[in-house]
Amino acid sequence: VSGAKNAALPILAAGLLATEGTSKFYNVPKLSDIKTISMLFESLGVKVDYKPEENTLEMDATKPLLTEASFEFVSKMRASVLGPMLAREGSAKVAMPGGCSIGSRPIDQHLKGFEALGATIIQDAGFVEARAEKELEGSTIFFDFPSVGGTQNVIMASCLAKGKTTIVNAAQEPEIEDMINFLIKMGAKISGKGTSILEIEGVEKLVGAEYTIMSDRVEAATYMIAAAATKGDVLIKGAPYKDNVALVSKMREMGVNIEIVDEDTMRVSNKLDMLKPVDVKTLPHPGFLTDMQSIMSVLTLLAKGTSTITETVFENRFMHVKELNKMGAIIATSGKEARIAGVRKLSGAEVNATDLRAGAALVLAGLVAEGTTTIGNIYHIDRGYNDFVGKMKSLGANIERIEEIMAYEMS
Ligand code: EPU
Repeated sequence: VSGAKNAALPILAAGLLATEGTSKFYNVPKLSDIKTISMLFESLGVKVDYKPEENTLEMDATKPLLTEASFEFVSKMRASVLGPMLAREGSAKVAMPGGCSIGSRPIDQHLKGFEALGATIIQDAGFVEARAEKELEGSTIFFDFPSVGGTQNVIMASCLAKGKTTIVNAAQEPEIEDMINFLIKMGAKISGKGTSILEIEGVEKLVGAEYTIMSDRVEAATYMIAAAATKGDVLIKGAPYKDNVALVSKMREMGVNIEIVDEDTMRVSNKLDMLKPVDVKTLPHPGFLTDMQSIMSVLTLLAKGTSTITETVFENRFMHVKELNKMGAIIATSGKEARIAGVRKLSGAEVNATDLRAGAALVLAGLVAEGTTTIGNIYHIDRGYNDFVGKMKSLGANIERIEEIMAYEMS
């Protein structure tokens, strides 16, 4: 399993806070999103040396940064750069962030946090600007919802603020802990890691550091579910149980064998012709991760009986359903709920990836379907899966990449 996209992006953004020294990151995945953020940083005046084949990235952000992040880069991915830019330079103008179209994805909680620290927010057509007339000052911020990006952005903004900031109802995802670990290595003072209340004591400066990005728990989940769906037996390295407890519990409920080999390795196998149906509800961590629900839905198609998936985090994350139904699935959605009949047999079809995780779900469906499945718009998959085709092939999958140019090389 490669390094985590959703940890790497905020950790690289945190690297913008270093006014002294360079940072070097290891286990950086080869993904188009990492290429995009590198190009964004270069456009701000940061020196970046991204070596995707070596999975390393070095950056030197010590020169003053430009304060405007262009639409060209920010629209292609979702990274929290407004907070660190504001903290560093006292003002920042950023195009509205992109990423997967899985709902309206407002950033009101991020902005509320910056305002509490003393910034003024100006929102205009497609842009948001944050300005601090004087030094940012620590404050107490309550999130209405534990937003992942909001928590990351406000932590970064408050690291260099004067005094103490308290974030109440903070998101607790492992990717946030990973970012906090890096910030602490840079000299930040943050307590409450892994809980819903975080305290950040502002410091004078942060210094570049070396850091190894955590493994991608969604990528691990994808191979775990692929193993179960194809009745395989796969040893997955870079898959810590502690980061995927909800998934392991739900897969075991269905009858899948999961052995926790060591703190970093799991072995997933399945011999059952008929898995048990299951009810899954997505929630903020430690609940079931929304990024895994489309992939999990493929496994529930192989169960005997009806499963339900309730999506509570994003309002529009069932776009894969129409595509799976083209392959013989019987999935009915109503509002936040999808009811999935265990059809136990799928047929190959021409389908389209509608977002990153939906794309992975279609690959898994294609692996279990009879006949050939052709998947379009695979640039979505390139945003988040390092060498998906190569790794699947090494497990015995019959899969070819038809579109030869990776989104990575195009960007
Ligand atoms: N929300 C608001 N206001 C805000 C912020 C969020 O209403 O100010 C809402 C969103 O609209 C959404 C919910 O809160 O309905 C969750 O959003 P959150 O901010 O927690 O998510 P995010 O930071 O936009 C990250 C990941 C997503 C992942 C979610 C949830 C990155 C780059 N993205 O998004 O990953 O699904 O957390 O865990 O870290 C993916 O990798 O495929 C992906 C979409």
